[in-house]
Amino acid sequence: MESLKVFPNLETRVLYLREMTQNDLEFYYNHFNKPEIVIGTCFPGPASLDIARREFEKFIRGPWINNTGLRWGIMMKNETKLVGTCGFYDWNHDSKRAEIGYDLDPAYWGKGIMTEALTEIINYSIEKMDLNRIQAIIDSYNLRSMRLVERLGFKKEGVFRQRSYFNGEFHDDVCFALLKKDWIKR
Ligand SMILES: CC(C)(COP(=O)(O)OP(=O)(O)OC[C@H]1O[C@@H](n2cnc3c(N)ncnc32)[C@H](O)[C@@H]1OP(=O)(O)O)[C@@H](O)C(=O)NCCC(=O)NCCS
Repeated sequence: MESLKVFPNLETRVLYLREMTQNDLEFYYNHFNKPEIVIGTCFPGPASLDIARREFEKFIRGPWINNTGLRWGIMMKNETKLVGTCGFYDWNHDSKRAEIGYDLDPAYWGKGIMTEALTEIINYSIEKMDLNRIQAIIDSYNLRSMRLVERLGFKKEGVFRQRSYFNGEFHDDVCFALLKKDWIKR
């Protein structure tokens, strides 16, 4: 697929999904240091704004610039601040597959916000990125995240035993995937 020229800002019933810029660096730093986000993603928060800046370039701007993924900032339509992020990474254009990632401010959990955001970006990924397979790798303790992808029709494919090491212990990772044919059938 030809690389996208303009970042695809999206809109749902209650959300704006928008491009993130350097102005969102402080949000990035605070958000990814929230204990619930650190535990859910099994990824330590950036220890300084400088480290946050480097991560922001690598995980948010880099994939867009290099055409290997897309990450949207999530905003409630009736508010002005970001409340989370979601998107795709490790986009393999030949095999038409990518990994999905997402994280929401805990103050906004339990309202269906991420379900709405992911529904929109999955539709986008199938129509515009031509994805055939979307994979989610989830820590086996992260039941909320597993409920989320199952609600969206992802199928559990297997367990990678002791694949991660976090907080002094090995963790199993659970692999879920959604195929285009299953999404279209829904
Ligand atoms: C994973 C994560 C985004 C899930 O958040 P969430 O709030 O549970 O997901 P949603 O916003 O889609 O909300 C769904 C919940 O709201 C409820 N809900 C209320 N109204 C709803 C609606 N209109 N539509 C769907 N669900 C609704 C659902 O029942 C569900 O709760 P349940 O799982 O207890 O049944 C969040 O826990 C998170 O950011 N965790 C930290 C980071 C992380 O783990 N990232 C993923 C790494 S793999």
